[in-house]
Parts: sequence; structure tokens; C-alpha cells
Amino acid sequence: CGAKLTVYKETDSTNTRLRELAANGAAEGTTVVAGMQTNGRGRLGRSFFSPSDTGLYLSILLRPEMTAADAVRITTAAAVAVAEAAEEVSGRQADIKWVNDVYMDSRKICGILTEASFSLESGGLDYAVCGIGINVYEPEGGFPEEIRDIAGAVLTARVEDARNRMAGLVISKFLRYYRELSEDTFLEGYRSRLIWRGEEINLIRGSEITPAKLIDVDERCRLLVERHDGTRDCISSGEISIRRR
Ligand code: BTN
Repeated sequence: CGAKLTVYKETDSTNTRLRELAANGAAEGTTVVAGMQTNGRGRLGRSFFSPSDTGLYLSILLRPEMTAADAVRITTAAAVAVAEAAEEVSGRQADIKWVNDVYMDSRKICGILTEASFSLESGGLDYAVCGIGINVYEPEGGFPEEIRDIAGAVLTARVEDARNRMAGLVISKFLRYYRELSEDTFLEGYRSRLIWRGEEINLIRGSEITPAKLIDVDERCRLLVERHDGTRDCISSGEISIRRR
């Protein structure tokens, strides 16, 4: 199918590398993997801590026929693929924090950033780059101060070939869920790992904080919450993040 796998020891950002390939006509499934990023990018314009030796950074090119609103399903399917891969490699349970963070033992082990590009001619989705960053191990000396209370790793001790195994599992599981996207096969694995169900959370949009109770996610991956007055709301991912109260 023409899809290629490129592996870098180090690059600025696998999403940036892959977007260049995408703009030059690379085929769906083309993947870039790196052992370290000098300019790893996260959601909401944040940077993503991407040290060498302990992390895994990869981006997969997709050319789906879908609307922008549906692109969130790519990210949620990727979260399930990572959660399953992390469970297989570590033997521990993984949880998913809406919309795209994978947790183990209440700590974030993975972040996902899907970047879409639209065609000016058709107005439709031209391509999407799904970027996945995983802390396979904790870095020597621990995580940096700013993320020390949040960040965690898949493994606590070195395991032979773990990063390669993780990469293979994540890519193959993700591509399977992606092919089955219209059948929602990822959704059960997403819902069963959804963190903070039934708990009180804060919805955070910039400086605006709204308390609510987390109920579930619907089939369009929107977060279903209940406000204090008993009314229910469906929230699309956009610029909102959630925190436990
Ligand atoms: C987040 O948690 O905010 C999302 C982080 C996404 C990081 C991955 S690492 C591979 C790919 N390349 C990037 O520059 N970012 C994504």
C-alpha cells in the first residue's frame, strides 16, 4: 500500500516530520517513530516532555473520509490501543482520562495529539496525523518538577525490548481499531477504562471552571456530565479538559 515506517533516534517532533511527508503525498499508514524529541508538542499548545531512552514517540498518517467532528474518534481509538498495549507489556491495568490521556496507578503514562489538515478545494479532511507519546520508563532522576505529580510510566523496571514491543503493539492495535472505526469496536474498551465515572469533577475551559458529575461517554466520544441541578450535558473535546475534585 506504499506506507513506510521511518525510525529516528532523535527528531524535533514526529508529528511535524509526518506532516511534511503527508503534504508530499505519503500513503495512509505511513509511520514515524523516534526515541527522543527536541520539540515534542502537546495539546493546547503545550510542549511534551520527550527524553531519550525512556520514552516512545510515534505518529501515524491517516487519510480518512470523515468530518472534523468525527476526527476525535481517531484519538479515542488510539487511547484504547495504548491502554491495551501497556497492559500487555506491564501486566497492570490502564485507565483512560477523557479524552485522550492514558493513566496507570492515577498517573499519566501517555498523551495523544491528533492534528488534522483540511483541503481548501473540498473543505473535507485531507489527512490526520495521530501522534502518541508514551513514558515507557521513568527517566533517571525522575520526571521534571512541573509534571512530577502527574506523570508516570508503563514499567517500573527495565524489561528487554519493551519499547520495541510497545511500538509494535500500539501500531498494530491502533490500525485494527482504525479500520473498524465505523463499527465502534474501540468504544467498549474505552468505556470500560474510563476514569472517574460517577465522581465529582471540574470542567476546565481556560479560566472557567464548572463542577459536574462524570456519567459516561456517548458513541460520538462526547463526555456526558450531570450538573448540580440535575440537568445533563454532552461535551465535545475541543478546548475543555477535566480534573477530579
Ligand atoms: C498531550 O498530552 O498534550 C499530547 C501529547 C502528544 C505527544 C506526542 S509524542 C509523538 C507526537 N509528536 C509530537 O510532537 N507530539 C505527539
